[in-house]
Amino acid sequence: MKTPIDTPVANSPKTAHKPLLKWVRKMTELCQPDQVYWCDGSQAEADRLFAEMTEKGMCIRLNPEKRPNSYLFRSDPRDVARVEKSTFICSLSKDNAGPTNNWEDPRTMRHRLKSLFAGCMRGRTMYVIPFCMGPLGSPLAQYGVEITDSPYVVVNMRIMARVGQPVLDVMGEHTFFVPCLHSVGQPLAPGEQDTHWPCDPNNTFIVHFPEERSIVSYGSGYGGNALLGKKCLALRIASCMAHDQGWLAEHMLILGVESPDGEKSYVTAAFPSACGKTNFAMLIPPKEMEGWKVTCVGDDIAWLRPDAEGKLRAINPESGFFGVAPGTSMKTNPNAMISCAKDSIFTNVALTDDGDVWWEGMTDQPPAHLIDWHGQDWTPDCGRQAAHPNSRFTAPTANCPSLDPDWEKPEGVPIAAIVYGGRRMSDTPLVYQAFNWTHGVYLGATLSSEQTAAAEGKVGTLRRDPMAMLPFCGYHMGDYFRHHIKMVKKLRYAPKIFHVNWFRKNAEGKFMWPGFSENMRVLRWIVERARGQAYARETPLGWMPRYQDIDWRGMDFPKEKWDAVMDFDRLQLRNQTLQHEELFLTLFDHLPKEMIFERELLIARF
Ligand code: GTP
Ligand code: SPV
Ligand code: MN
Repeated sequence: MKTPIDTPVANSPKTAHKPLLKWVRKMTELCQPDQVYWCDGSQAEADRLFAEMTEKGMCIRLNPEKRPNSYLFRSDPRDVARVEKSTFICSLSKDNAGPTNNWEDPRTMRHRLKSLFAGCMRGRTMYVIPFCMGPLGSPLAQYGVEITDSPYVVVNMRIMARVGQPVLDVMGEHTFFVPCLHSVGQPLAPGEQDTHWPCDPNNTFIVHFPEERSIVSYGSGYGGNALLGKKCLALRIASCMAHDQGWLAEHMLILGVESPDGEKSYVTAAFPSACGKTNFAMLIPPKEMEGWKVTCVGDDIAWLRPDAEGKLRAINPESGFFGVAPGTSMKTNPNAMISCAKDSIFTNVALTDDGDVWWEGMTDQPPAHLIDWHGQDWTPDCGRQAAHPNSRFTAPTANCPSLDPDWEKPEGVPIAAIVYGGRRMSDTPLVYQAFNWTHGVYLGATLSSEQTAAAEGKVGTLRRDPMAMLPFCGYHMGDYFRHHIKMVKKLRYAPKIFHVNWFRKNAEGKFMWPGFSENMRVLRWIVERARGQAYARETPLGWMPRYQDIDWRGMDFPKEKWDAVMDFDRLQLRNQTLQHEELFLTLFDHLPKEMIFERELLIARF
């Protein structure tokens, strides 16, 4: 037995969960923080942390008259997005991680992490954050505990997940939890001055041990790298749990659509990072489509499970939005603007002279002077961006004006339609419907999109992003496709599957579809198709609406434009279909045969 550690405890844990206490003790010995603090999740605690961070120059309190209870953080310019090249799935066998994930032998990785974490919290406080993904006490919820030396992570997790004492109380003494260890990787020597955003960009590791269901992250304090309940637990580890237990963990928004007669249908949609999930989730229908209403359940992650009746039910495991700031405005997404009007955290946006925030696209005219995300003076003619392209707001879901009344229903909401979409400049039409479930899985599996600023890498390059899960699937992508195909067997009321592309551009480089609110016209057709109420014509791609099948009230969109945005070139698409081979070949030994058959069918239809 080791001697008890002499690390001061800032407060005592109010839990009798022995495995949790033991793990925290072990991590304290390893990381050697100055003190250990158990987060209770209260407002008073958050206020105290914000005050401390403001004092130390880590954040700026925004003008309380303009933006009550809100703060601005600026990251180290080297730590601004998810780092996919440093993200690992350390399954026991390399084959289980599959060719789309980075893998390393778990023992080798553990060894490396152990030496990185040894003493890594010296000079800092270790925070223990018990959290719950999903409504507290819901049978679909999962529990985690994040240990971190970043107070920024604590205040963000408090918005993104249910945290603190209420979670410990529900967990009791035995509930299983996912241990999530995080450090910014910058210990402080006695008397050493801290930086405003400590991190270690040269040693960043975001590591998942799927069999053990544990997460270790080192070196980054930003977003999905550090808020471990989100991508690491709710997608990568949850996708493994879901595979083993017969459910789905997906990179999907969830929304509700109510028609004028009061009938309500729920839809999920998977778009890759920074491809419009938040916008779609918070859509406000054009006023001429009287009586149509859209409500928001979630904007990033959905957990879906077949219920006893054979309906697919979805919950949003999160309780906050970590939304892309640039491009968000009262015109493009008023509900998001209102969501972050108070009680919010802003990271890497610009500061206005009156203590508020600004980013590209928020207003038509930029302010005459700003402090940019680097902390430097900015004027409209300086040639630099004021906000980083992946700057984000962290806002409570509860702030959203269009929040669905059932968003925290423990059993989730029943899903009628699943939508897949990406950022495709040229070839793919605005909308079409899969002929059946397997064809729908094929549409999701062959999704591709131009890369955005949400991760490191070259923005704009087209890449395959199956089901928008390329960076988030915790196991072999071929097995993941099979799991999707099999799901339909448990569904009496399988959702109908659709493909959309809001981003098609013409030869002049202009968007061919106005998008945003007008997407409601497409959404109405989708929902009515799912209900069996709308007409469609058969094409080689799938079922497509004709011009007259769309509600055009209040919108001037001539048939020629519609024909252009719905057009597809058989030859071009056939050649592209042959390129699906590339992904399929890398997955070959795990690829379900159905995917090959679907491709053959598609080529034959062309
Ligand atoms: P993550 O949070 O990274 O997973 O992404 P997200 O999918 O929630 O991203 P978000 O909704 O914030 O995407 C923002 C980007 O999509 C911005 O550049 C928007 O301008 C753009 N966008 C959203 N909806 C539309 C649309 O209907 N048409 C067009 N052209 N752009 C859109
Ligand atoms: C994404 O990249 O899909 C996000 C942002 O939602 S992050 O949480 O940083 O991964
Ligand atoms: Mn996302």
